[in-house]
Amino acid sequence: MIYDVLVVGGGIAGLSAALEAASKGTHVGLVCKSLPLRSNSSMASGGINAVLSTMEPDEVSAHVADTLKSGQGLCNLDAVRVMCQRAPATIRKLHKLGVPFDLTEEEEISQRSFGGSGKKRTCYIGDKTGSALVQQLFKKCREAGVEFLPNHFVMNLIESKGRMCGVSVLRKSDSQVLAFAAKAVVLASGGFAGIYNGHTTNPLDTNGDMLAAALRAKLWVKDLELVQFHPTGLAKNGALLSEAARGEGGYLVNSKGERFIDELSTRDKITRAIMRQMESGEKVFLDVRHLGSAKIETKLPSLKQTCWSSLNIDVACELIPITPVAHYCMGGIEVDVNAQTTIKGLFACGEVACGGAHGANRLGGNSLIEGAVFGEIAGFNAAHFAIKNIFLPIDYESVAKEMRRVEYIYGGENLYNVNALRKQLGKTMFEKVGIYRDEASLVDAFEYIKYLRKLTASLHCITKSKDNNVEIVAILELANALQVAEAVVFSALSRKDSIGAHERTDAKGLFASPAHTVVTTLKGGFLKIERERTGTFWRMKRWLMRHFIN
Ligand code: FUM
Repeated sequence: MIYDVLVVGGGIAGLSAALEAASKGTHVGLVCKSLPLRSNSSMASGGINAVLSTMEPDEVSAHVADTLKSGQGLCNLDAVRVMCQRAPATIRKLHKLGVPFDLTEEEEISQRSFGGSGKKRTCYIGDKTGSALVQQLFKKCREAGVEFLPNHFVMNLIESKGRMCGVSVLRKSDSQVLAFAAKAVVLASGGFAGIYNGHTTNPLDTNGDMLAAALRAKLWVKDLELVQFHPTGLAKNGALLSEAARGEGGYLVNSKGERFIDELSTRDKITRAIMRQMESGEKVFLDVRHLGSAKIETKLPSLKQTCWSSLNIDVACELIPITPVAHYCMGGIEVDVNAQTTIKGLFACGEVACGGAHGANRLGGNSLIEGAVFGEIAGFNAAHFAIKNIFLPIDYESVAKEMRRVEYIYGGENLYNVNALRKQLGKTMFEKVGIYRDEASLVDAFEYIKYLRKLTASLHCITKSKDNNVEIVAILELANALQVAEAVVFSALSRKDSIGAHERTDAKGLFASPAHTVVTTLKGGFLKIERERTGTFWRMKRWLMRHFIN
């Protein structure tokens, strides 16, 4: 199959990219490993940030300042400016496309408070914002002629002489390996917090497949150690209890019923405050009882539903037991403000990318707007690239290699339980590379991940039928998850100070340094790490080195 622009991922960034590229007249394919409406974006419930001043006076400069403050010196000012400046027009456009934002009595888009921002700046659709956005964008993409390719697992990027040619994919229905040729590829496949299996808001298949592919393609991957923990996961299963609950006035209380933190502080601070309570023997709860049934019904219907179906808790009269869980990855594939990677014709946007919009600690509500803004930018630039360039032939040896790999996994006798290994990885990541880490815990994790990587060579499908075989996908996912996990730990080891979401308990006395951790893969699969200083001069120097010397 051949496309001008191939988008990988069906969340808000991927759909925005596909819609924009299709609007430029290019033939666009959108490939995702399950169904487009099942992306992680659909689960980002609470809202999407933009300065609209519909509730109170607000300024784009204040949005920029709040984002930079929360990012603690690791943001790229240009990326933050682009995101915040384009946000109002992006929201108006989404509204025009039919996204049913909640409105004020004056029929203006309603906005609520979210953590780390002094203003009501978060637009929302109850507490189902992500899923409402994704549904409407999906509809618009279909109307615009985007070809959807669900249930295709992208295995690797195919490039030739520094330019994209396409991707190799596993068609899940029959386990055939195919090549999709494309003049331009947009990676919008989300983050990797699913590797914290058992301790995450993310679906478990959000395990960084494209980050692993990027590492294999020797791209530079940035700040992987910065994994944000959401303060309010449901204690029983980590299900996301949206920040909207606190934005609407919900409290965090301990077992004595005492509040212990400003609920609209940033996520890193709230998470650590909760951990301190837990370490002192307290349980921690989200309390929305005082909001009253009517407000809960209209503003927090998903919260009500989740708590009832998981724990039979009636949130209007009972406390909700919570715990922090891995939620979002600030790090990702290094991109510039045009969403361009160092491979020509390859763009990345949304959580898989790291363009510097979030720094060391993302603000709630900034992920959806970043996905929408940079998705559109990626789609625009990918379409222009496709219009100006011809197809490059695919080297089918790279596809044959993937075929051999699939055959190997189907053949042979299986020695381990892939799901048990995934759980072990999740437990290790949470305990050793979690909210707190230190040199010893990270070294332990590194050794254990290396051990798990060795075991994956003995993972084979028990069921040999190739039709919709879930085992083959689980084995490929685990291999990717382990590759990403190794790079995360490697990055966390190299950042010896604490900053934002990365809290090193052995960093006492060290100042937080505003430098990035950048990792790439050398020949033989070894990882190479660099600490990079922030600032325009250093960014330009690096860009030149990566494009012309590496
Ligand atoms: O809590 C939430 O609704 C999550 C939002 C976000 O991560 O931006």
